[in-house]
Amino acid sequence: MKITFYGHASFQIETGGKTLLFDPFISPNPQAAAIDVNSLKPDYILLSHGHSDHMADLETVQKNSGAQVICIADIAGWLNNKGISNVHGMNFGGGFNFDFGRVKMVYALHSSSMPDGAYGGNPAGFVIYSEGKKVYFAGDTALTLDMKLLADENLDLAILPIGDNYTMGVDDAIKACGFINCKNVIGMHYDTFPVIKIDKEEAKKKFADAALNLTLLDIGKSITL
Ligand code: NI
Ligand code: MN
Repeated sequence: MKITFYGHASFQIETGGKTLLFDPFISPNPQAAAIDVNSLKPDYILLSHGHSDHMADLETVQKNSGAQVICIADIAGWLNNKGISNVHGMNFGGGFNFDFGRVKMVYALHSSSMPDGAYGGNPAGFVIYSEGKKVYFAGDTALTLDMKLLADENLDLAILPIGDNYTMGVDDAIKACGFINCKNVIGMHYDTFPVIKIDKEEAKKKFADAALNLTLLDIGKSITL
């Protein structure tokens, strides 16, 4: 399983012979200027919620690739109305076996609306089960007790927001690691905008002091799990 960071909450996971792109927000992000959106050809696009800092490039990438969009059922209908028909709608607690592995949609404590103001259902996170690994992509979320439902999953990795202001900050993300029982974290949703700037060295130290491993990937860089 190869995980590549494209800035903000955008990640690509290559697993099970397929490519999954999460929350594409690349072309409006000056920090991700080195990433060519038109080079991205995922098989699936997983969308956590309707905010533009998670889906600004969804239409472009979907049209370029024909990728299937996996999202909450309420957004599936909105995408259909935009002419994107290859959509797999899900809802909380539901899992589905795709050709690369299983995806379960889980709760995220945040808000959601579409870029045009339409109803966007509720925000979501995903647990990906593939190649014998379990990865939690939290989406935009506050610390929430529902995370404790993941404690017995034996997660290999959690991709958590740490930027504060719109989502959990570092201290709550550390508490979340206890709730989900996972020591291995990739941070997201930080440094993109002035209000979510963090001190990266301080964040890494706080995680390390809690016996947790925080990885902050440079944009365009990958890790293998
Ligand atoms: Ni959001
Ligand atoms: Mn966001």
